[in-house]
Amino acid sequence: MNNITIKAGSPLKGEIEIPGDKSISHRAIILASIAEGTSRITNFLTGEDCISTISIMRAAGVKIEMAEDYVTVSGSSLFGLKEPEDVVDAGNSGTTTRLLAGLFASQNFFTVITGDRYLRKRPMNRVVEPLRSMGASINGRDGGNKLPLAICGTKLQGITYHSPISSAQVKSSILLAGLSADGTTTVYEPTLSRDHSERMLVAMGAKAKRLEDGGFSVEGGFSLSAVDIEVPGDISSAAFFIVAALIVEGSEIVLKAVGVNPARTGIIDILLAMGGDIKLENKRDVAGEPVADIVVKSGPLKGVEIAGDLIPRAIDELPVVAVAAAFAEGTTVVREAKELRVKESDRISAITSELKKLGADIQEREDGFVVEGGKPLSGAVVGSFDDHRIAMSMTVAALKASGETSISDPECVNISFPGFFNLLKSIQR
Ligand code: S3P
Repeated sequence: MNNITIKAGSPLKGEIEIPGDKSISHRAIILASIAEGTSRITNFLTGEDCISTISIMRAAGVKIEMAEDYVTVSGSSLFGLKEPEDVVDAGNSGTTTRLLAGLFASQNFFTVITGDRYLRKRPMNRVVEPLRSMGASINGRDGGNKLPLAICGTKLQGITYHSPISSAQVKSSILLAGLSADGTTTVYEPTLSRDHSERMLVAMGAKAKRLEDGGFSVEGGFSLSAVDIEVPGDISSAAFFIVAALIVEGSEIVLKAVGVNPARTGIIDILLAMGGDIKLENKRDVAGEPVADIVVKSGPLKGVEIAGDLIPRAIDELPVVAVAAAFAEGTTVVREAKELRVKESDRISAITSELKKLGADIQEREDGFVVEGGKPLSGAVVGSFDDHRIAMSMTVAALKASGETSISDPECVNISFPGFFNLLKSIQR
């Protein structure tokens, strides 16, 4: 077992670039793989999750080449994929699994998808059930709810699906299946989750559109055209540096070219409501996604209540919100965030137990947590649960806890943020 020791921090200063967005990187590989022509993807995230997506698409016959600064994907067109020779492995990546379950369900071949011991525990019914209602033939452990999933690709029928959860993975899985289904496939969700799939489908010329009533529909049987995609910096990765700069006194940093898609900026809204000194500058559009430079200065924070539409807009950032809350004056309550229990780890229980070890006053709730902020924290030995976002959240907490904190199995940060620890070191002054 590996550990990393983090010391209470000196201020963070300087300008940094954050690695490419994980959600957009996955989608760029998948959609470029089924487009006609060659797509070039720049600022692609080379985290382990996105590499899993590349290896599965290669196993399905797609030519994908990785140069130092970009990736080229020679699209196989919608029906040019090939049957993988062996079981394909999505590693730790829920996005890879759920999106590709939708894509492969409508191909004319057989695929078995598996994953690591964490992914094999995560629920797949959320995509398997709607895909079955399109005619998909999918089996797996626990009635098809758990990996490995065995998918016998077949012709599907378009559906109108009202998802009970706001999940971009569910939405994207069904839309991907809909691309080659008969007729129209339309997806509704309670509140808008990240819409990167929809934006990229439109950019690649799919017969797809946002409806006035909020649904999104795609017509089956129309091909996509290759495009060049510049992936913005990942706001979910930026979040760790934003919170670190807010809580470590004397910090002032600029995060360049971070994606600020409104379906992802819940973290900015939350930290602004907490009184954080954050400014978005140089706003522009890059390949259909809004991007900005984010300027952050340290300063006092106060507790807030977080629920409703904000939850899907900040779902991956809620563990680091707990860290910000521990250093804020007053109470922070996070509600309606039960989805956190089925992420890479049970993030409600993981962040609660580990912050408690540093002395934080945080209580677990069924659908979130309550933090009484402002208690002094001190270094301790904490776990990462092999969950990249827990490891990085605890690193941020450690920068402001007195003494030293030892975090176990920190290499899981490579799932979404290779170079995280070095980048942090490079701006500690
Ligand atoms: C993702 C969607 C979210 C998010 C995950 C990435 C995506 O999951 O938590 O990290 O790229 O579609 P859900 O769709 O399960 O909410």
